[in-house]
Amino acid sequence: MQLLSVASEVYPLIKTGGLADVTGALPGALAAQDVAVRTVVPGYPAVMARLGKAKVVRRYEALFGVSATVLAASVGGLDLLVLDAPDFYAREGGPYGDHAGNEWGDNWRRFAALSRVGADIAAEGVKGWRPDVVHVHDWQAAMTAAYMRFGPAHAVPKVMTIHNLAFQGRFSADIFPALGLPQEAWGVDGVEYYGGIGYLKAGLVSADAITTVSQTYAEEIRSPVHGMGLDGLINGRVDRLHGILNGVDTDIWNPANDSLIPKAYTARALGARTANRHALESRFGLDHDGAPIFTIVSRLTWQKGMDLMVGAIDHLVGLGAKLAVLGSGDHPLEGAFLGAADRHRGRIGVQIGYDEPLSHLMQAGGDAILIPSRFEPCGLTQLYALRYGCVPVVARVGGLADTVIDANEAAVAAGAATGIVFAPSDPLALHGAIGRTVRLHGQRPVWQAMQRAGMRSEVSWDHSAARYAALYRALLAEVA
Ligand code: ADP
Ligand code: GLC
Repeated sequence: MQLLSVASEVYPLIKTGGLADVTGALPGALAAQDVAVRTVVPGYPAVMARLGKAKVVRRYEALFGVSATVLAASVGGLDLLVLDAPDFYAREGGPYGDHAGNEWGDNWRRFAALSRVGADIAAEGVKGWRPDVVHVHDWQAAMTAAYMRFGPAHAVPKVMTIHNLAFQGRFSADIFPALGLPQEAWGVDGVEYYGGIGYLKAGLVSADAITTVSQTYAEEIRSPVHGMGLDGLINGRVDRLHGILNGVDTDIWNPANDSLIPKAYTARALGARTANRHALESRFGLDHDGAPIFTIVSRLTWQKGMDLMVGAIDHLVGLGAKLAVLGSGDHPLEGAFLGAADRHRGRIGVQIGYDEPLSHLMQAGGDAILIPSRFEPCGLTQLYALRYGCVPVVARVGGLADTVIDANEAAVAAGAATGIVFAPSDPLALHGAIGRTVRLHGQRPVWQAMQRAGMRSEVSWDHSAARYAALYRALLAEVA
């Protein structure tokens, strides 16, 4: 089967979060299911720089007013169809905004263009290649499903994955004429959303199947608390909704063979982690002592509960523990973490920024990773942590609830516990979880059993790739 994937990020070319990890790893996992994937991605500078030999497979004289080409290239095992439109994508900064964090004012056009191209390829193919199924990710690619539904590729099955319902791509109704959709696409069953235009919403009503990245998140978004205004729509399409848990790329994230950490190790020889622990302490200016090291690798935002975390720092230090933070995001939160590091020298270390290699050391050298999210569609850092014997301390929401087994008495007795799970996502429960973690860390046999159980957890893509493949085949059977 031939699959066209459309996404705004793909690891290792361009990444701001878990979306890239997923779109980067899934093609390899799907290959084992006889699904061959080609991925449409914008030609940001970071992508263009990695292309090497590329072939022009489509040309546009005026794609939303700019000239563009589609380049076919193969990079690191990924079959890419890169939308090279310099007016849209050749910019300094991130994929969605400038260095200061201001979103580009023409994002509606940049991602409508990406989606338009996805739909054109679905309809006409490239050089004799045609997709059987199209899979689009998040709001940036969601309009692909709408363009397909209201165009010649309407019969090609389309799957839309929600990685995060909080980002919806909402724009003013004024842009409708420029989108090049037929008039019938306006309205509640089309792109219209509370009087404006919603890209994610348009994708959700147009797709033949909707998936989210965990079972629990699929349930949660049916309620107003987590539905972000779309729970009504989602409930109306619940027969089309599937929760398929993310996996991790077990080659890139493998403690037994990871060139980004000082010392490789396995579950059998956890003592070897000590070298990584020391490296982490040195890197963050933390005291070299036996106290537990908590880590954070995260966007510093409200979703991730990072304001709760700032509030818990004095408690954590009071318990004798240490904390290493790698993250970037909301400026007040960045400032608050930096301030805490100043107040607690040797106990708190903070690095603001995005650092992929360092994120491996955090997992290999930390004792426990803190993820107090308010909502979490799946979460990947707890999966990396499990694999690296860094015990996850997580809020009981979304994919966190589905992947970590709390160290309650029964789970500890059964040797099944893999982490600490707390609820609700509030200061009191977070304080309690930090305290419980410090106590468990002091019980060496129990702690090591948790590390080993985590490292044995199934976090690969195998099972979920089979579920995606089965879903694609079921949709194909519907149109046959
Ligand atoms: P989200 O996509 O919501 O940010 P995920 O847990 O799914 O959350 O994925 C986050 C990804 O980004 C993981 O691969 C994580 O290691 C990585 N990451 C987050 N912050 C940083 C950072 N500051 N430096 C390096 N990697 C980071
Ligand atoms: C989103 C979610 C995160 C998920 C990731 C990949 O960024 O916030 O929970 O793991 O997408 O699906």
